[in-house]
Formats: sequence, C-alpha cells, structure tokens
Amino acid sequence: MTFMQVIEYETTDEDRVDRLMDEWLRITEGKRTAHHAMMGKDREKPSHFMQIVEFPSYEEAMRNSDLPETRHIAEEMREACVGEPRFVNLDVTRDEVVDEDAMESLLGKVLTDLGAVTVAPMMVIGERLGLFTAMADGAPLTSADLATRTGTQERNVREWLALMAASGYITLDPDGRFRLSPEQVIVFTQQDSPYYAPSGFQLFSAAGSMETRDKLEQAFVKGGGVGWEEHHAELFPNVGRFFRTGYAAFLVDQWLPALDGVVDRLRTGGTAADVGCGLGYSTMMMAKAFPKSHFVGFDYHGPSIDEARRLAKADHLGKRVDFEVAGSADFGGGPYDLIAFFDCLHDMGDPVGALSHCRARLTDGGVVMLVEPNAADDLADNMNPLSRAFYGGSSLICVPASQAQPVGRAMGAQAGEARTREVAAEAGFAHFRRATETPFNIVYELRS
Ligand SMILES: C[S@@+](CC[C@H](N)C(=O)[O-])C[C@H]1O[C@@H](n2cnc3c(N)ncnc32)[C@H](O)[C@@H]1O
Repeated sequence: MTFMQVIEYETTDEDRVDRLMDEWLRITEGKRTAHHAMMGKDREKPSHFMQIVEFPSYEEAMRNSDLPETRHIAEEMREACVGEPRFVNLDVTRDEVVDEDAMESLLGKVLTDLGAVTVAPMMVIGERLGLFTAMADGAPLTSADLATRTGTQERNVREWLALMAASGYITLDPDGRFRLSPEQVIVFTQQDSPYYAPSGFQLFSAAGSMETRDKLEQAFVKGGGVGWEEHHAELFPNVGRFFRTGYAAFLVDQWLPALDGVVDRLRTGGTAADVGCGLGYSTMMMAKAFPKSHFVGFDYHGPSIDEARRLAKADHLGKRVDFEVAGSADFGGGPYDLIAFFDCLHDMGDPVGALSHCRARLTDGGVVMLVEPNAADDLADNMNPLSRAFYGGSSLICVPASQAQPVGRAMGAQAGEARTREVAAEAGFAHFRRATETPFNIVYELRS
C-alpha cells in the first residue's frame, strides 16, 4: 500500500532548507526509496512549510529514513528549523488521479454515443423515406439528386447525408458527392440480409420512445415492470423485422438440422409449436420448408397474432400454419414433435412454468428448441458491443416485460447457458444440450 510521510516545520531560512533538499536528492540518488516528494509553503504564514513524500510502502519509508544520508540531512534540517518538525505517517487509503488518456478515451466514447442518439431517428426517417434504398445502386450522387429521386427537400437531405457520412454509414467522395460502398449497400438497403441494420434502429427507437421511457422510469421506482403490450405500437413489427433476417439465414439450414431427428420428423409430417411467436416469421419459415407438417404459432399479444395471420394469408400458407392467442403456460394442442421458442423465453415471467407446460405437450422423443441471444455466463465476459446492444434491449424491453408477468423471473437477454440450463432443469428436462450457435444466438436442445 502506498505510504506518505508529511513533515511540517517552521523556518526563517527557506533558502537553506531548499539547498538541503537539493543535497539530499543528490546524495541519495539511486538509494532513496521515495518516488514523489513535494514541498509547500503556507500562504497565511510564510515561515510554515510542509514536505509531502510518497513511498511505495511504510517499510520502504523506514528504509529511506535509516539511510545515513537521510539521517545526516535530517540533522541539518532540524538546525535550520524553528522548533521540532512534526512528522505524520499516512497509509494512503484512497488515491484519485485523473488519467488524461483514460479521460480522452471516455469522452471519445461519449461523443460517439451522443452522435448515435441523433443518428437513430435520422436512420428511421432515412429508411421510411427510402433515402438509403434510392442509393442502392452504389452510384455517386448529390443531395439534389437524392432529393429529386425521393421527392424530399434538398436542404434536409443534404444535412442527413452529412450526418450519415460523418457516421461512416455513407461514403463521401473527393468530389463532394455521396455513395454507398458495397458493404453499405448490404447493411442499409438489403432488407433480407442478416446484416440489415435500419430495422434494429427502428426497434430500439420504438423501445426507447418518450412515452415508454416514462413507464420504464416508473417501473424502476415502483416495480412491476412494463408489459410487452404496453410498448409503442412500432415495437412489434420491428422486432419481427429485426429477427426475421437471422432466422431466414439459419433456422432451416443450420438450427433445425442441429437437433437430433427433428428434420426427419418434420419432413415426413410432424406437428410443431412456436411459442411467443410474435409476428410469426419463424413459424411461417418452418411451414414453408416442411409442407407435410403442421405448425402453430402462439403468442399472448393479440395484435401480433392478428398480423401473423394476415402475413400467413398473404403468403398463401393455407392449413399448414395456424396462429392462436395463448400464453406460454396455457397454449393448447399437441402433442408436438417440436416446441420452439425464438428469442422469447427470457421475456417470459415464468420460463420454468412455460417449459414445464411444454414437457407435458411433447410427443415421445419430442424436442424443445430454445433460441436465445448469445452470451457468456460471466458478466465480465460480456463487456463487448454485441452484449451492450443486448443489455440495452434487455433493460428497455425484456427484463421489464418479464417483471410485468406472474413470477417475474427476469432472466434478461444475456442470461447465458448456465442460467438457461438451470431453468430447463427446474422444469424437469433431463437432457440439455447447446446444439449450435451463431454470433447472435445460441440454440439449445431440451428433452425429457
Ligand atoms: C422478443 S419477442 C420475439 C418474438 C418472436 N419470437 C420473434 O423472434 O420475432 C418476445 C415475444 O414473446 C411474447 N411473450 C412474452 N411473454 C409471453 C408469454 N408469457 N406467453 C406468450 N408469449 C409471450 C411477446 O408477446 C413477444 O411476441
């Protein structure tokens, strides 16, 4: 522990004390153990001084005092002083130093995020008005070109382009025109790509809308969470859009084949439930891939089920798929060969109750598939940009949604494997396996 020695003294011969200090520094070069020494003069009483000397430890300070050179200078100091110097030995219990580099890096992060707050609504507007898609050919254009193409006001578009270019989301060419690079085309215009970003901005903007924020603030103080259905109406379609691209990329080709025997069962004609299906994109993808099977999507949120039914009808899925308003612990039908939960078990108030209910509704050899956000078990291992976004979504949506339901387990979107395994075990599942994963999700297989 760092140690400090404070020496308080009176002298009328400041120059002599100064010279003694110089001499001490010279003769103890390479021997002294003090690593920082300061001398101060009292503004109110010019004969009153203090020396503050810092050492790595008390022991080192004592070693320093025992040096013959220090003893000699201390003797001379006594002679130069009026009265006896006063020594105070301090174990340093707290040491606050502002690290300039750390400060700069922190302010850099803050500045980036401050910009991001302004980007979010502009991203939403840009997507809605087709500003990105109008640049999807990657050809350079001016703000006037983009305004003409999209039927918008040039001055507003010019500022929007400047913001997006400064964000690195649009490329500014040396001639002052703007274009999308091939990567920017994918991330900002290709709605079916798993890298498509604007839906995420729409989702988080809806989740953090002013009216929801006020409800969340109340929930922080009074408890009781904020129910899924209490969110801004734009949340629901954008959650569906946000997750849909990942499911399109992985669900049929990687996730289902990673579960033992499930694809064979669905190919020949099985029955599957999709619990907490939201707008039902995952249900419909499975229904399209396995036309001999029957799929039912359940969600307790009526408006989401209405929209799922509308989408299924528009997709001409006929009797292959049904959607029902039902909670995770009381949905009917079955027995099911597969019961799936896509990014929703952690949103439920009683995940154990939901999984127990599933156990009673599985066929012999039936499987529960849990698709959950990817996360490490230890908080310290989740200090990265992806987990940060998930913790953001989790504090805005998932934890309060779970708290608003009976039990209110509030697993959080970064529950990780160990906590998910615990929930499955409490529900009586003897078999729990991490079947596969992507950077965004972990897929678990549960069997009785
Ligand atoms: C993050 S969304 C995921 C929706 C959908 N699975 C997807 O991936 O797009 C969570 C969903 O869980 C549903 N949910 C939450 N608690 C539920 C419960 N107890 N019973 C049924 N559905 C529930 C919500 O209504 C919401 O649609």
